[in-house]
Amino acid sequence: MTGDFKRPPAYSGVWHPDAIEEIQEKAELGRYQIRGQATKRHSLPNFDDLVFTPAGLSRMPLEGYRERCDTQVVIGEGRVSRPLVLERPIMIAGMSFGALSINAKRALGMAATNCGISTCTGEGGMHPEEREHSSKLVMQYLPSRYGMNPYDLQKADMIEIGAGQGAKPGTGGVLLGLKMSEEVARMRDLPPGVDQRSGCRHPDWMGADDLYMKLEQIREVTNYEVPISIKVGAARIANDVRIACKADVDAIVFDGMEGGTAASPAIQLDHAGIPTIAAIAEAVEALHDMGKQNQIKLIVGGGIKNGADAAKAIALGADIVYLGTAPMIALNCHAPIYLEDYERLGTTPYECQHCHTGLCPVGITTQLPKLMARLDVDEAAERVTNYLNAITMEIQLFARSCGKNKVSDLDPNDLRALTHDVAIMTGIPMVGLNGRQPWWQKF
Ligand SMILES: Cc1cc2nc3c(=O)[nH]c(=O)nc-3n(C[C@H](O)[C@H](O)[C@H](O)COP(=O)(O)O)c2cc1C
Ligand code: SF4
Repeated sequence: MTGDFKRPPAYSGVWHPDAIEEIQEKAELGRYQIRGQATKRHSLPNFDDLVFTPAGLSRMPLEGYRERCDTQVVIGEGRVSRPLVLERPIMIAGMSFGALSINAKRALGMAATNCGISTCTGEGGMHPEEREHSSKLVMQYLPSRYGMNPYDLQKADMIEIGAGQGAKPGTGGVLLGLKMSEEVARMRDLPPGVDQRSGCRHPDWMGADDLYMKLEQIREVTNYEVPISIKVGAARIANDVRIACKADVDAIVFDGMEGGTAASPAIQLDHAGIPTIAAIAEAVEALHDMGKQNQIKLIVGGGIKNGADAAKAIALGADIVYLGTAPMIALNCHAPIYLEDYERLGTTPYECQHCHTGLCPVGITTQLPKLMARLDVDEAAERVTNYLNAITMEIQLFARSCGKNKVSDLDPNDLRALTHDVAIMTGIPMVGLNGRQPWWQKF
């Protein structure tokens, strides 16, 4: 429609070209836009607004090559007979078979196994190949119940009850018809090739009290052996944490509004939920209010890219970080290859958010055999392993520089805020002030 017309630079601040294009697209399609990956907002408060204040004279740092810095975290220790032992404070987030190709699932499983951490089925059931490739596998129990059965629950190393995700809190999943292959459809008991929308509310769970019953039911099915977590999208997070504590889960998972997805209404991605950094502060406070900070693990995701983000989340009170988009990028998402296929989708690497289409140029979020074959499983597993190793070293680097021999010992006192907003949101003192009265008011 626009032909070769170039946008003029003197556009209105109110009627930005993006807003105009969006209205024109809606006028043409008669429906809202769907896209993959994450919000396009640029201005959310985030981990870059915090810095570490490592050791100097007042504290001794640890030697990188000679002194240990432990990374292990255990979920359900002293609570279940088969707790989940993670060798690093990292979990690969729930991403469904259907959203991801089986090759992507295989590669993520192999990388997680190499690093002693877990992967998660996401929606749509447990694929036997995923179980085979992941030594520690979390199974999601979601409102749709797609692919759900007690036998697979018994094969899992942890159960994650899904009650929402950061990219689309309060709404259910979307899987467009092109991704509904024969195999994906068979696992979900649905017809192939038809768009699927999954429920946002568990059918047998109408309020807070029912969560306890649901937990008991799953504990019975799994013989009280494995931990159970509950996952929500960060929105009304303080109350959600309190309710989860009351139900006595083993872990609480949440991702902020930066959290990734394979498909979500674009308007929801940009206008619902709260940023990860704000959510951590609320959740940690609620956990302390309930006196459960030493029993229930906090697993936090949403926009975590590197070891600095992860270490800051841990210092703010998370026990484990939960990564979806970053391992996908390590698989090869956004790689500048097969450029003509990005172009066909009307996009380019680095801005591509076309996971919902099923036409992923690099073979990650597709079910088409020709595209799937583009992901070499062994190479992809090696890239994800390298990425996980690198960020683990980065997390340890910050812990050691703050004089901590356990990553879990990082705490809010190791951080300072660069912006007033984040200082208020997190309670972390502003740099320069350190929470004290300005010096010129003292004298
Ligand atoms: C491709 C893809 C598929 C996803 N599928 C699911 C899913 O099936 N169930 C779910 O609870 N969350 C799903 N998520 C959300 C992730 O579990 C996680 O919360 C999110 O990716 C974390 O944020 P990050 O992507 O910024 O790391 C998916 C995310 C992506 C990127
Ligand atoms: S390259 Fe594939 S996985 Fe990455 S954003 Fe594009 S469609 Fe999604």
